[in-house]
Amino acid sequence: MQGKRILLIVGGGIAAYKACELVRLIRKRGGSVRCVLTKGGEHFVTPMTLAALSGQEAHTSLWSLKDEVEMGHIELSRAADLVVVCPASADLIAKMAAGLADDLATTLLLATDKPVLAVPAMNVRMWVHSATRRNVARLREDGVQVMEPDEGEMACGEFGPGRLPEPEAILKAIEASFGASGGALAGKHVIVTAGPTHEPIDPVRVIANRSSGRQGFAIAAALRQLGARVTLVSGPVSLATPAGADRIDIETAREMAAAVDRALPADAAILVAAVADWRVEPSAEKLKKADGPPMLDWEINPDILGLLDGDEQRPGLLVGFAAETSNVIDRARAKLAAKGADWIVANDVSGDVMGGEDNQVHLVTADGIESWPKMGKDAVAARLAQRVAEHLAKANLLEKK
Ligand code: CTP
Repeated sequence: MQGKRILLIVGGGIAAYKACELVRLIRKRGGSVRCVLTKGGEHFVTPMTLAALSGQEAHTSLWSLKDEVEMGHIELSRAADLVVVCPASADLIAKMAAGLADDLATTLLLATDKPVLAVPAMNVRMWVHSATRRNVARLREDGVQVMEPDEGEMACGEFGPGRLPEPEAILKAIEASFGASGGALAGKHVIVTAGPTHEPIDPVRVIANRSSGRQGFAIAAALRQLGARVTLVSGPVSLATPAGADRIDIETAREMAAAVDRALPADAAILVAAVADWRVEPSAEKLKKADGPPMLDWEINPDILGLLDGDEQRPGLLVGFAAETSNVIDRARAKLAAKGADWIVANDVSGDVMGGEDNQVHLVTADGIESWPKMGKDAVAARLAQRVAEHLAKANLLEKK
């Protein structure tokens, strides 16, 4: 964050006051902030407040002659390392998705060539409205990082997703987007697989599993925070892409195998996905109940971990996950040997781990077994990313000797 320049666009909404705290936090970390307010934003915080907190003039109008002389709007949009839209109201998100440029904020957003992070805040109904869903999906396709809003009681009295994330969480996302330089994994490429796969039976039915993708996404985020380039190959999940990760969405095991193969070479691969072991040749027509229970002709899916081990571009560090419901450690040991992985992270999924918040894992390597205490999936991810960084640093040293 040290020396980074952030252009903060403050949209309209009661959450705008939290932008003030964000300015303070960014400056505390050594970053600088230049603020722009939309008309709506001005109803909730004043340019004066933001100017005082940021130590720089806050801008509101596209037509301010003074701004054009001292700094044109194009220049303003480029003289930043990152553009943060916070809060991003439903209206501002819609304008961004449509590419409108009818005020200073939207003009800057259209003119910028810098990464953009949008932090939504709005009423829950507005957030789940199909128009907003469409606009957010469009923005993500366009490469804008859109954070997921928090869930909870809202200023309007309703409950659900739509609250602005806490300023500390926004700061984390900002730091992660700068992660690529200077971290312990800078210059390293890591492939992460996450989520379930869906294997079609017919045009409307799939074979799926309960994986939420949370552990894999948390690992991708933790690796990004250490500066790795991360390719995240994900099955169907409803999770936001960790800041700065290159995400590839797939549905089937075979698509996942192909995406992983295309992402090579990599320094490490961490395969967290719950890949379906079998598939069937899907029927082109919807199966009809009247025809009786279908006889499914099962075929074995490619084992992505096994294939990577045999690949001539095998990543230097190959990490598998083993979700077991009994004999966790013995089975993980057997998987380590059978799949040719360097590490297996084993967990007991007999409880509510799949889809839950916490995880209790054992790290199984050729050197032995380490049982980590039960902790949140983010903490497991941070610890694992740290271990990957240490391992790759050691491997680098050995190579140099
Ligand atoms: N895996 C994979 N490709 C598959 C199946 C599994 O890459 N077709 C990976 C998973 O991402 C995980 C590891 O292999 O990292 C172990 O997955 P798991 O489902 O526990 O192992 P399986 O080999 O499928 O064994 P089983 O289901 O019989 O326990």
